[in-house]
Amino acid sequence: MLASTLSSVLVALSACSLASASPFNHIQARNNTGSSSSRKTCIVPSQYAASNGTADDSPAIVKALQDCANGGLVQFPMGVDYFVANPVVAVNLSGIRVEQYGNLHLPKDISYVQKIVNSTEQTWAAAITWFILNGDGIEWVGTKNVTTGWIESYGQAWWDANNATGLLARPHLFQINANNVIITDYKARKPIAWQVADCQSRPNMRLSGNNFTIKDTVLDASTTGGFPFNTDGFDVAATNVLIDGFTIFNGDDAVAIQSGAKNVTVRNGMASGPGCHGMSIGSLGQNQGLYNTVSNITFTDITMVNALYGARFKSWIGGQGLAENITWANIRMSNVSQPILVTSSYTNQGSAQTQIQAGAVSGRPNNSTVVTKNFKWENISGTINSNTPGDGSCVTNPCWYEQGLPNLDGTQAIIIECGSDTACQDFKFKNIQLMPYNSEPSSVICLNATAPLNPKLGFECTNGTFIPTN
Ligand SMILES: *[C@@H]1O[C@H](CO)[C@@H](O)[C@H](O)[C@H]1NC(C)=O
Ligand SMILES: *[C@@H]1O[C@H](CO)[C@@H](O)[C@H](O)[C@H]1NC(C)=O
Ligand SMILES: *[C@@H]1O[C@H](CO)[C@@H](O)[C@H](O)[C@H]1NC(C)=O
Ligand SMILES: *[C@@H]1O[C@H](CO)[C@@H](O)[C@H](O)[C@H]1NC(C)=O
Ligand SMILES: *[C@@H]1O[C@H](CO)[C@@H](O)[C@H](O)[C@H]1NC(C)=O
Ligand SMILES: *[C@@H]1O[C@H](CO)[C@@H](O)[C@H](O)[C@H]1NC(C)=O
Ligand SMILES: *[C@@H]1O[C@H](CO)[C@@H](O)[C@H](O)[C@H]1NC(C)=O
Ligand SMILES: *[C@@H]1O[C@H](CO)[C@@H](O)[C@H](O)[C@H]1NC(C)=O
Ligand SMILES: *[C@@H]1O[C@H](CO)[C@@H](O)[C@H](O)[C@H]1NC(C)=O
Ligand SMILES: *[C@@H]1O[C@H](CO)[C@@H](O)[C@H](O)[C@H]1NC(C)=O
Ligand SMILES: *[C@@H]1O[C@H](CO)[C@@H](O)[C@H](O)[C@H]1NC(C)=O
Ligand SMILES: *[C@@H]1O[C@H](CO)[C@@H](O)[C@H](O)[C@H]1NC(C)=O
Repeated sequence: MLASTLSSVLVALSACSLASASPFNHIQARNNTGSSSSRKTCIVPSQYAASNGTADDSPAIVKALQDCANGGLVQFPMGVDYFVANPVVAVNLSGIRVEQYGNLHLPKDISYVQKIVNSTEQTWAAAITWFILNGDGIEWVGTKNVTTGWIESYGQAWWDANNATGLLARPHLFQINANNVIITDYKARKPIAWQVADCQSRPNMRLSGNNFTIKDTVLDASTTGGFPFNTDGFDVAATNVLIDGFTIFNGDDAVAIQSGAKNVTVRNGMASGPGCHGMSIGSLGQNQGLYNTVSNITFTDITMVNALYGARFKSWIGGQGLAENITWANIRMSNVSQPILVTSSYTNQGSAQTQIQAGAVSGRPNNSTVVTKNFKWENISGTINSNTPGDGSCVTNPCWYEQGLPNLDGTQAIIIECGSDTACQDFKFKNIQLMPYNSEPSSVICLNATAPLNPKLGFECTNGTFIPTN
């Protein structure tokens, strides 16, 4: 995610939120045995119509998730609305199926929500999340009916009220810490900040989620005014994950693969919006005290439209770790400002030296870098935004996405900034067909992807015109 704040690290940094909720104990055996007909069924009652959307339905939602936690079916019927005035936390779920065919509405009143957020522990990692599901065996099913089955967060007012880098005290939307999860037709509109995070929980209590299938997601964080800061699509720190089918319009990473992620496939989707920050790995290495790992990640058959980035890796100066076996294949780019970027010198806007996690040290005391190994880009085609590059999120000069790149001119198809001459190993580019709109030849900026360690790089690692070598 883009972290963007001058004054506070709370707003933007990081990966996942987590809430004070669950100790993750007493996880029960999965019980997927009940079919829809034989399952215990909890239809969630709504007071929305009777109260004109003013009565809080969250206690009834929590109760249904508890009553049907073990092998049951929780249903929000089609066309029914719910006012979710307070965060919903459900733990120890086991073999549950949730059918969200109705609409879930978050409160519209910004200061009311901020009061709830402010009343909880506020650190970068612990800002509140509105929906948290924990357990083993969770199926969350929405509907393809576009008129119902939405989570409505009313983020527009938050984005408009903000005139810098994101209002303070924003809640995150949705988080699942679990094994064996299937999510289908999840639809969220104008989330205030980031999203379906499968986070590995607190940095000092690393619990992994495993085995996720997430199909046909719609995330609409399009804005008619202020920049939709930190509206990440998916933040993934889990193992064995398939994200298949998605339409994302947002103002940060569409997908951010984070430390701990292994065997993740992201495919068949479209991500767009000037603020969209692409199919990203990272950021890694923000906490210099932690060795970060990411491996076996594939992004394939994806269309990026009007985005700032397309295929992107980002790690911090002074970070440590290993990211290996990463592939971006069959990616169509339409009007993308920086289609392919690898940087080992990522920082958050306006807070270059921020160190924010547990075990914090101040500044960036050493020059280590996360190692990136066996990265492939294959069949990447389309157009580069040479006319109006950028995303409108800048508050610094030079802008955060132009820092360290004085020769950026809108024609760069590929930007590779390796933090040392051994940081980038076995990079391979094949069939890269990207053209700037201004009809100039496409170009590259390439630092430190050295020939001995990158024998099949596929282009000349210099600054200048893109010259494929295969
Ligand atoms: C599994 O769910 C069914 C249907 O709800 C229930 O009858 C059964 O007792 C559950 N089994 C276990 C082991 O929880
Ligand atoms: C219902 O709430 C809306 C605002 O959410 C308000 O405009 C409308 O007047 C209310 N209707 C009644 C009958 O109170
Ligand atoms: C879609 O949802 C609307 C509103 O709930 C409902 O009236 C309509 O019948 C649904 N359409 C289908 C095809 O289910
Ligand atoms: C919540 O805290 C933030 C600062 O962290 C402050 O800007 C905001 O005004 C507070 N809101 C309320 C309603 O307390
Ligand atoms: C937003 O900030 C800019 C620069 O600080 C200022 O010029 C502008 O007037 C502000 N707009 C609003 C609506 O506060
Ligand atoms: C993954 O989770 C799904 C859904 O619970 C389950 O059907 C499947 O068996 C799991 N796969 C493995 C390898 O455990
Ligand atoms: C990788 O994850 C997918 C689910 O996305 C699973 O089907 C596959 O078996 C996993 N591969 C390995 C080697 O575990
Ligand atoms: C990663 O992929 C490699 C090559 O296909 C395979 O040998 C390895 O087992 C995979 N690791 C995981 C964790 O899926
Ligand atoms: C990366 O892939 C190679 C084979 O291509 C495999 O040997 C290695 O174990 C993989 N790395 C991880 C961490 O799975
Ligand atoms: C890190 O690099 C800078 C600039 O090259 C150098 O001045 C500094 O001494 C290095 N620090 C360490 C701990 O190696
Ligand atoms: C290539 O471009 C980068 C980024 O703008 C710059 O730091 C570097 O000095 C340039 N290298 C050469 C050899 O011009
Ligand atoms: C390239 O590598 C050299 C030597 O390892 C290092 O001093 C320099 O900072 C690296 N360049 C970048 C852009 O990280």
